[in-house]
Amino acid sequence: METMATQPSQDAAEAWQPWHDERALRCINCQRTFSLRAILYHCPDCGDLLDVVYPRPQFDPEAVRKRWWRRRASKKHIDQSGVWRFRELLPFYDDEHQLVTYPEGNTPLLDAARSARYAGVRHLRFKHLGFNPTGSFKDYGMVAGVTQARILGMRAVACASTGNTSASMAAYAARAGLSAIVLVPEGGVSFAKLSQSLDYGALTLQIRGDFDAAQTLLQEIAPDLGIYILNSINPFRLEGQKSVMLELLEQCDWKAPDRIVVPGGNLGNSSSYGKALRELDDLGMLSKRPRITIVQAGGAAPLYDAFTQGHPDRLVRVHARTLATAIKIGAPVSWKKARRAVNWSDGWVTSVGEQDIADAKAIIGSDGIGCEPASATTLAAIRRLAREGTDKRVDPDEDIVAILTGNILKDADYTLRYHSRELYEEFTTESTVVNKGKKLESNYANPPVVVDATAEALTAAIRSRLA
Ligand code: F0G
Repeated sequence: METMATQPSQDAAEAWQPWHDERALRCINCQRTFSLRAILYHCPDCGDLLDVVYPRPQFDPEAVRKRWWRRRASKKHIDQSGVWRFRELLPFYDDEHQLVTYPEGNTPLLDAARSARYAGVRHLRFKHLGFNPTGSFKDYGMVAGVTQARILGMRAVACASTGNTSASMAAYAARAGLSAIVLVPEGGVSFAKLSQSLDYGALTLQIRGDFDAAQTLLQEIAPDLGIYILNSINPFRLEGQKSVMLELLEQCDWKAPDRIVVPGGNLGNSSSYGKALRELDDLGMLSKRPRITIVQAGGAAPLYDAFTQGHPDRLVRVHARTLATAIKIGAPVSWKKARRAVNWSDGWVTSVGEQDIADAKAIIGSDGIGCEPASATTLAAIRRLAREGTDKRVDPDEDIVAILTGNILKDADYTLRYHSRELYEEFTTESTVVNKGKKLESNYANPPVVVDATAEALTAAIRSRLA
């Protein structure tokens, strides 16, 4: 498999106007606009995706940066949120009292020497979104989606999920006093994620089908049931996720990195990064355009296929297969927005295999950081791109930020299997241990050691490690 760099599309960059003369929902294709308070997920005319758009903000960039920074010391809940702290750039609410917050965000940017060495690059940092209240990046977007649900007066919210969206939505719905309905593929979601939506009180429907089927079914039934969909097809989710970029740039003293590497599943996250950077660029707040580099798991890589197989205008659904269940998605809804982000930023789309994901995850762990498998695709991709001898490769001197999307505890089963040298490429359910498929190599295993309960045995085991 070869890696694909897209052509920087000046046309696409020029055509993508970030602002509108009034607040609205706007179709990314036909540009028709609709009321900000319409319950819409697609353009009723042409069926394409919608953006939330605003009039161009009238602030002095330097003054607003200072205000954002000062808010960190405020006692006000919304100022403590890593999302609402930047509310000047997501002004879809009418009144601050409407804003829901946990709070969320304020996630660290971490150096990772072992990971950098493993990938063969000199300047690598991880922005770890797994430090959020429900353990994944979804909280950045869910806070905005649930806020819009409340503004609209919805009583119930719903999502199809590979586990993290559902955990996040269940928690935020509970905090906001809304009913939550989640659809997850039966046996296709880690125990930790499933347990979260149960504990937070969501009606949890394990459907006998995959994520893509759940997503399609939900869009079919939601309007009649009067429930509000909070998948990333909902453009308000993506507004919240923009603040990951704002936080990151603030952490970098507003010196944009050369490259941002992000895992791609339903492709909402990468889309929101593109929108944030596009807006900041227009406001003169971006020192350079970081290349948005999206990574998919090889067995669930329809966007990668679209770029590399010569059909960038058409996404061909795949039957998704990967142990990184968070990104096991064959028909990502936001692919056109993700393509727009990649083209505008002169970014790349790549894919990585199961063995590479497994090893990269262990390396991130060895830096004392840890993450879930989907997040480890980033390090695997950087390593791959740094090794490739083409002009499309990652330069070892680039300033790279990789986005870790989920906490290590989200999928402890995977981690334990890897370190116990029992990770297979396929196993049917999470609850029944059915080892199938090719056994992956545990090249960086740190297996547990069973010892007799005697001082001698313990001493010997410890001495052999310290030797
Ligand atoms: N990483 C993790 C840990 C995820 O949970 C997801 C998506 C992604 C990456 C991909 O992000 O969809 O915005 O491209 N999880 C969704 C879910 C689909 O239902 O939890 P994306």
